[in-house]
Amino acid sequence: MPLGAAVDFAHEVVPILKKHCVECHGGEKSKGGFSMNTRALVLEADVLEPGHPDVSLLIEQLTAEDPDERMPPPGKKKAPLNTAEIDVLKRWIAADVPWEEGFTFAKDRYEPPLKPRKVKLPAGPAGANPIDLIVAEHFKGEKLDFPVPADDSTFLRRATIDLTGLPPSPGFAAKISQGKPLNRDKAVDRLLADKQGYAEHWMTFWNDLLRNDYGGTGFITGGRKQVTSWLYPALLNNKPFDEFVRELVAPTKESRGFIDGITWRGEVNASQTTQIQFSQNVSQVFLGINMKCASCHDSFIDRWTLREAYGLAAIYSETPLELERCDKPTGEMAKASWLFPELGQIDASKPRDERLKQLADLMTHPENGRMQRTIVNRLWAQMMGRGIVRPVDAMNTEPWSEDLLDLLANHLVSSGYDLKAVLRLIATSRIYQSRADVREDESEAYVFRGPVRKRMTAEQFLDTIRAVTGVWPKADGDAFKEKGASGGQLNKVMKAHDLKKWDDRPIRTAFGKRDSLQAALGRPNRDQVVTSRPDSVTTLEAINLANGPELAGMIRAGAEKLGNAVDPKNLVQSVFRASLSREPATEEMEISLSLLSAKPSTEDIEDFLWSVFMLPEFHYIN
Ligand code: HEC
Ligand code: HEC
Repeated sequence: MPLGAAVDFAHEVVPILKKHCVECHGGEKSKGGFSMNTRALVLEADVLEPGHPDVSLLIEQLTAEDPDERMPPPGKKKAPLNTAEIDVLKRWIAADVPWEEGFTFAKDRYEPPLKPRKVKLPAGPAGANPIDLIVAEHFKGEKLDFPVPADDSTFLRRATIDLTGLPPSPGFAAKISQGKPLNRDKAVDRLLADKQGYAEHWMTFWNDLLRNDYGGTGFITGGRKQVTSWLYPALLNNKPFDEFVRELVAPTKESRGFIDGITWRGEVNASQTTQIQFSQNVSQVFLGINMKCASCHDSFIDRWTLREAYGLAAIYSETPLELERCDKPTGEMAKASWLFPELGQIDASKPRDERLKQLADLMTHPENGRMQRTIVNRLWAQMMGRGIVRPVDAMNTEPWSEDLLDLLANHLVSSGYDLKAVLRLIATSRIYQSRADVREDESEAYVFRGPVRKRMTAEQFLDTIRAVTGVWPKADGDAFKEKGASGGQLNKVMKAHDLKKWDDRPIRTAFGKRDSLQAALGRPNRDQVVTSRPDSVTTLEAINLANGPELAGMIRAGAEKLGNAVDPKNLVQSVFRASLSREPATEEMEISLSLLSAKPSTEDIEDFLWSVFMLPEFHYIN
C-alpha cells in the first residue's frame, strides 16, 4: 500500500506491536528504557520522526543488518517482521503516529471511584477560590511558580469569548485602556447573565456533543431529527443539568433526536444500528466512555465488554436484540442493563419508555460521580484548553488532580446542577485569570502549568468578525430554513423569552449550516459525536485551504459598512478595540493609516480589515 494510505491503529498497528514488541516494551516492561504503553511515551523516546518513517530509528531497526541493532532482537525465538508488517508501521509513522484515545498497553488501568469524594482543601487565605487552593498546592509540589496574571483586557477578551463566543464591546475595551480597573467578578457575572449570548455560544458545544445539525446525512430521508427547539431554550434557561440529561435520555418529542441517532440507509454493520448508536452516544457523551470499541468485541481500551454495550442498546431496542461479535450472531440475547449496577439496575421486563426513564434516573443518580465528573471536565477543558482528565472521552484515565475534578463535580451538585455556577467558579479563579502563554508539548509527561492558549472555533472566529464589522446575516423566512435552524419554531421560543423575534435579528454562525470555510476552520460534520475541536491546523492555513468566497464576501460587506465611518484614525482605533480589546500601538496606527487614504475607499478598508483579522493575536484566545 502507498505510504499515504490510511492506517487503522487498532486493527493494523496494535496486532503487530502486540505480536512483536510489547512483551519487552509494554506493560511493566521497558527494555532499553523504551515503553510503548502510550503515544506520549513512544514520542518521548525519540526513536521515530512523526511523518517521516524513512528517518525513524524504529523502522531502521526492523531490518538492521547488525544483530545488536535489530528489533526484535534475533535469537530470542522472535521472527523478524515481514514486509507487509513493516509497511503498516511505516504508514503509521507517515500518518503522524495515530493512536486510539485512551489506548494503552499498560495492564493496570485507573479505575476512579464511582461515588463523589469529599475533598479536603489545602489551607490558604480566607475567601480564596477553592480551585486556587488546590492549584497552588499542585504548583508547590511541582516546584513551579503560580503563573503571572493576565492583564484586564486580555482577561476580558478571553472571558467574553469563552462564555459568549463574542468579543467585548469596544466601549469596554476603551475604558480599560484608560486605566479603569476592571471588577473581574462582576464582569463574569455580567457575561453569565447575558442569557442570549451564553446560549448562542454554547449551542456550538452542545450541537457537537449531541450531533445536532440542520442538514446533511439523514435529514432528507427523515432518518434524523434536530433537537434545536429543545436545546436552545434549555440553554437560555440554564436548565439544571440533571434535568437536561434526563430529558435527553428519556426524551420529549422535541429532544428525541439525540437518542434516535441516525438511521443510515442501506446495509449497515451491527455496530451502526440505531440501538448500538444509542449505547455508544449515551455512554460517550454523559459518562466519558468509549463504547465504540466494545461494539464489535470486548474493548481493548478499557474494561467494557460486548455484553455491556448490548445491555445498554437493549434498553433502547423495541425488539429482542441478539449479540453480534464482529458482525457474527452469537446466539446470546442481550438483556437491558446499565453499566454501574452498584447504583441500581434496569428492569428489563418493563416497556421501553419506562426503561429509558430508569436509565435517566440512574444516570442522574446523586452518587453517579462519573456523570458529574464527565461534564465538569468538559467545561474545564473548554475554559482552560485542556481537560483535568484527557482525553475527555476516556474518563478511566487518571486526572492530574482528583481533588480538583471532584471539587468541581461537588460544586455542580451543590449548586443544583447549575452549569453556569461551575463556569463561574472557574472564570473567577486566579488560575483561569492567569496568562495563557503555555503551549503544550505532547511528547512530555503532562504537568499542569496553567491555561492553554486556544484557537477560536469557526463560530467564534466568524462571529467576532461580524461583531467588529456589524454585518450579520439575517433570517428571511424560508430562505433561512434552507440555511440552518428552523426560524418558525425558534420564533416561538424567542417570544416566550421576550427576546427579539428571530426574523429581525442577527443570526449567529452556530445556527447556520456548515459551509466550506467553517469546515476548514474545524466545524465538524456531525454524523458522529464530537467532543473536542481539532487544533492541528492554524486559522491561516484553514483560510488558505478554504480559499473560497465566504470570508472575502464577509470582509467586503464589512468594509462597505464601515466606509461610512468619518475619520481613518477613528476607524483604526475602533477596529482594534473591537477585535483585540486594546488600543493600536503607535507603529500599528502608522501602518494601518498607510493602508487607508484620507478618504479611504472600500478596497483600502478591506485591506486594513484583512491585516487585522489575519493577526495571530486575533485568531487566538490568549
Ligand atoms: C525480546 C525483547 C525485545 C523485543 C521483543 C523487542 N525489543 Fe526493542 N529492545 C530490547 C532491548 C533489550 C533493547 C535495548 C537494546 C540496547 O540498549 O542495546 C531494545 C531497544 C529498543 C529500541 C531503542 C530504544 C532507544 O531509546 O534507543 C527501540 C526503538 C526498540 N527496541 C523497538 C522495538 C520494536 C519496534 C520492537 C518490535 C518490532 C521491539 N523493540 C521488540 C528488547 C526487545
Ligand atoms: C466494526 C467492528 C469493530 C469495531 C467497531 C472495532 N473493532 Fe477491533 N476488531 C474487529 C475485528 C473483526 C477484529 C478481529 C479479531 C477478532 O475476531 O477478534 C478486531 C480485533 C481487535 C483487536 C485485536 C488485535 C489483536 O489481534 O491483538 C484490537 C486491539 C482491537 N480490535 C481494537 C479495537 C479498538 C481500540 C476499537 C475502537 C476504536 C475497535 N477495535 C473497534 C472489529 C471491530
